[in-house]
Amino acid sequence: MTVEKCGIWVLGYGSLIYKPPPHYTHRIPAVIYGFMRRFWQSSVDHRGTPDSPGRVVTLIPHDEIMKTPRFLQDYVKYENHGNPITNLQPNDLHTIGVVYYIPADRADEVREYLDVREQNGYTLHEVEVHLDLTESDSSDQELMAAIHQLPEHETTGKKVLTTNVYIGTVNNEAFVGPETIEQTASVIATNVGPSGTNFDYLRMLCESMASMKTCEETDKYLEHLFKEVNRIRDTL
Ligand code: BEZ
Repeated sequence: MTVEKCGIWVLGYGSLIYKPPPHYTHRIPAVIYGFMRRFWQSSVDHRGTPDSPGRVVTLIPHDEIMKTPRFLQDYVKYENHGNPITNLQPNDLHTIGVVYYIPADRADEVREYLDVREQNGYTLHEVEVHLDLTESDSSDQELMAAIHQLPEHETTGKKVLTTNVYIGTVNNEAFVGPETIEQTASVIATNVGPSGTNFDYLRMLCESMASMKTCEETDKYLEHLFKEVNRIRDTL
């Protein structure tokens, strides 16, 4: 096995974290630098309907945050404790996700499956991720040998990998950001779609994240959002 050449690596930062793709053989926590995760993609086919769209996650890249003052204000408010920041660097943004290895003989099938599962504005991109090997099973010698061959990032010292990832870019028609946590929470608290409640999507994402042992800080935006959704649901 050589980690990059045989099959494909798929990055999950949303539902893929708690609902893995079929046929994966390896799952490794990973950090995506240069992006912030937001529930700013509307969902009319999974966690909402055309009449009442829900909210699902997307990744906002550093360059869009720098171009759009309201994106930067959102980062400052939720992830920088309200402290103004003048010179945000890509490495200041980190999102915890998971990478899955799909063997070559299943790669086309899984891509097709994900293309169907992840419609509604998402497009496929390639993104570099940094592996978090804190909880990886070092008894898998084949995987460990393959990881050993990967380059190490000069700043983080972590092994880096190029992965396939679905992103709802800021110019896709289902992008709804920026929204405050209060606005997003009021949608998530009550919406339902063919895949279930919007609340369950958020809850399962938060629970899976909480169960992962990584060396990164927890996701403050997600924590705020979950708290606010629970607060609203308590009033219903
Ligand atoms: C995910 O990471 O789970 C995901 C995010 C956006 C589209 C598809 C999957």
